[in-house]
Amino acid sequence: MATQYPKKKCGVLGATGSVGQRFILLLADHPFLELQAVGASERSAGKRYKDAVRWKQMTPMSERLSQLVLRDCKAEQFQDCDIVFSGLNSDVAGDVGMETNPIAFDHCSRKQWLIQVHFLEMEFIKAEIPVFSNAKNYRKHPLVPLVVPTVNPSHLDLIPHQRKEFGLKKGFLVCNSNCAVIGIVIPFAALQAKFGPVEEVEVFTEQAISGAGYPGVPSMDIVDNVIPYISGEEDKLENEAQKILGSLNAGASAFDEQKGLTIGATCTRVGVTDGHMAFVSLRFKNRSAVPSAEEVAQAMREYQSEAQKLGAPSAPKEAIFVFDEPDRPQPRLDRNINNGYTVSVGRVREGQKGGYFDIRFAALSHNTVLGAAGSSILNAEVAVIKGYV
Ligand SMILES: NC(=O)c1ccc[n+]([C@@H]2O[C@H](COP(=O)([O-])OP(=O)(O)OC[C@H]3O[C@@H](n4cnc5c(N)ncnc54)[C@H](OP(=O)(O)O)[C@@H]3O)[C@@H](O)[C@H]2O)c1
Repeated sequence: MATQYPKKKCGVLGATGSVGQRFILLLADHPFLELQAVGASERSAGKRYKDAVRWKQMTPMSERLSQLVLRDCKAEQFQDCDIVFSGLNSDVAGDVGMETNPIAFDHCSRKQWLIQVHFLEMEFIKAEIPVFSNAKNYRKHPLVPLVVPTVNPSHLDLIPHQRKEFGLKKGFLVCNSNCAVIGIVIPFAALQAKFGPVEEVEVFTEQAISGAGYPGVPSMDIVDNVIPYISGEEDKLENEAQKILGSLNAGASAFDEQKGLTIGATCTRVGVTDGHMAFVSLRFKNRSAVPSAEEVAQAMREYQSEAQKLGAPSAPKEAIFVFDEPDRPQPRLDRNINNGYTVSVGRVREGQKGGYFDIRFAALSHNTVLGAAGSSILNAEVAVIKGYV
């Protein structure tokens, strides 16, 4: 099916980082997304990729990639690209105030906002190059789809409205969610489709070191240790799911967030290289027909997302893989199921009798694949299939 789509030339911004390297691996051999250009900071621009990068992947880089010359992350240097994927840090990707202060969006008209803000990702969309971003800056912007490809690819249908509001013809901005959020919203989507709204969640995460980029957390801090705090992370866990699980209005011009979904989060960093674990307790809104653990596991096994139904080439066979074994999932063993595009779930149990929560489970997601580069690529595939690129 995938071969029917025209080839699209892709650039990767932040190509030397943890997420950037993962983009490059996932784009190798892609049926219609071709790696055309790589960009990084001024420190790296002008160097051959192999001389600038600290390659930390298990697969060696290809000869072609090793010889690619890194470009400055300037839109005029990526005019030969149909799409760019951004693995840029948030301080260069966009306006840092935007994600925490949505009111700031109202201080200028939406179009003025686009013209006034001079950050890298904005520069690209203004140059009519679509951007798929992993940075946090614009996730909560009312005109920016926040898409987890196996949950809400239908939110991409706001793109024509975004273009109209921003005065763009081809450019647009689509964001991925936070890497730990992705691992919980996929199971929530499966459960809500079958049993109605989830109302209250308590989640505890154990997040991998690669989530902090490279070199990330110093080894002296993380070996033989758990760090019970990740700056800014709990806020994202508590506030991004409502937009992802919400709906697009009838005119495809605004998102209605899922109301009444309350999430409490505790995030920790552990000495695992890749793969975030999330331990979830949840309560359904409908008190009259609370599902059993068995029904919950079955609903997750049966879940099929729109990305899968559309035949996107990177869509996993199972959006959720459910283990019966009590000691799974484990990051080292299970993070690469379906090339890292699947969230694996285990320990599905009912809550304590008479207790507050209905269901408990553990979820594992590969933070640089499903949690970052892989989701961006899958979002781009869906955008191509839907004709937005
Ligand atoms: N790591 C994860 O699991 C994960 C998951 C989801 C989302 N994210 C988000 O993805 C983004 C990238 O994360 P990461 O972990 O890959 O970070 P990283 O390893 O620190 O990589 C950052 C990249 O940005 C480039 N860069 C830095 N300053 C720049 C500038 N002024 N101009 C152009 N390029 C610049 C770096 O290039 P040089 O090599 O030249 O410095 C490098 O390629 C962040 O916004 C992060 O929050 C990360």
